[in-house]
Amino acid sequence: MNSSDITLSALEADPDPILARLRSEAPVSFVEALDMWLVTKWDDVVRMEENPELFTAATEPSFLARALGQNMLTCDPPKHTALRKAFQPPFLSSGRSGPFVAEELPVLADSILDDLDPAGFDLMTAYAEPLSAGALAIVLGLDQHGFDRMWSWCEGLCADIANFDNDPEITQLAETTKAELGAAIKDRISQARGNDDAAIARFVQAGATAEQVVNNVRLMISGGINEPRDGIGLVTWVLLSQPDLKQRIDAEPAKLRRLIEEVMRVFSPVGTVTRQTTTDVTLSGVTIPKGHLVAGVLRSINLDEDRWSDPLTINLDRREGGHAAFALGAHRCLGEWLGRQEIKVGVERLFARFPDLQLDPSAGAVELSGFEFRGPRSVPVIA
Ligand code: HEM
Repeated sequence: MNSSDITLSALEADPDPILARLRSEAPVSFVEALDMWLVTKWDDVVRMEENPELFTAATEPSFLARALGQNMLTCDPPKHTALRKAFQPPFLSSGRSGPFVAEELPVLADSILDDLDPAGFDLMTAYAEPLSAGALAIVLGLDQHGFDRMWSWCEGLCADIANFDNDPEITQLAETTKAELGAAIKDRISQARGNDDAAIARFVQAGATAEQVVNNVRLMISGGINEPRDGIGLVTWVLLSQPDLKQRIDAEPAKLRRLIEEVMRVFSPVGTVTRQTTTDVTLSGVTIPKGHLVAGVLRSINLDEDRWSDPLTINLDRREGGHAAFALGAHRCLGEWLGRQEIKVGVERLFARFPDLQLDPSAGAVELSGFEFRGPRSVPVIA
């Protein structure tokens, strides 16, 4: 395969056939259109993830650092380890997220469902998006600003991260977002008291500086809303379009957890982890020169034929080890416990309210799009 033929638009439309060919013909390839290397086999990405001294997250240039400021995803251990220690606890079941998921998340989901019109709604914008924005707002302690505001902060930050052409309108939107969000976070820090268990208060109690809190909360908002939203959309769409799976889950509700894992594996909403070589590094016999950007393609390794039997099939009885949708190394998703629960509770409450939910037959087929972030933009349903 000639990797100079690969275009970003082809990857965004349908990455899987391109990635399958790369895995079989050129598993470590420089792709001109992306100006980076794509690493597509499981073992090679594990090597990347296990060796931050060879594959640094402190890339130069870094759109993430430019848009959000230096944060945990733009540095390596040991600096990174100290940040994780301060920022991880609220996202575990033993922190703020535990009681939130048990007591508040189902209530939040039900309150959003109360306002939906059974005659037809878009699952993504009317349910998955506010649920995901609301959940993170509550856990962080920013819910007094409303879930719509949370969503607009997320949109502003994400547009800035992807502002590769320095579009002045996007830069302006991003500056407004950052100023507003920065003020909201600092205000929340100033309100924090000793027994305050909101995540932002806990970060400060754990010793994080105001700047670290602001930058890392920006990171959480830019990544921690779209992904659970896409997860809820993908799992629901799979259930509505594959009746055999729906019947199996109806008969064995405990299998929903397995379904979520398989959907995350097969569709990998986060496509890649991007790093930079600190020296010449050889993977699968190909030498990547020092200083090059390298994308470990999570979507590809989650479908690697050498690791998974029948990789494209959603198999609720699969026992082949963990997948990589939340990544594998030091930067493995900080919010994975909360994210999984949002998807699970979100889907459970949706079908509890609308047991006859179906894809709207008058709308076209649901389409997935995106390479770096992939999911359905819209899932029209009727209840
Ligand atoms: C359920 C869907 C989610 C998926 C599929 C997902 C996926 C990922 C992946 C693949 C990474 C690694 C990125 C890299 O190494 O370049 C990551 C990191 C991260 N995620 Fe998630 N995520 C999800 C939900 C969340 C939520 C709810 C939060 C809320 C706080 C969150 C916060 C973060 C943070 C802060 C990092 C950076 C961790 C670090 O650098 O140590 N994610 N996520």
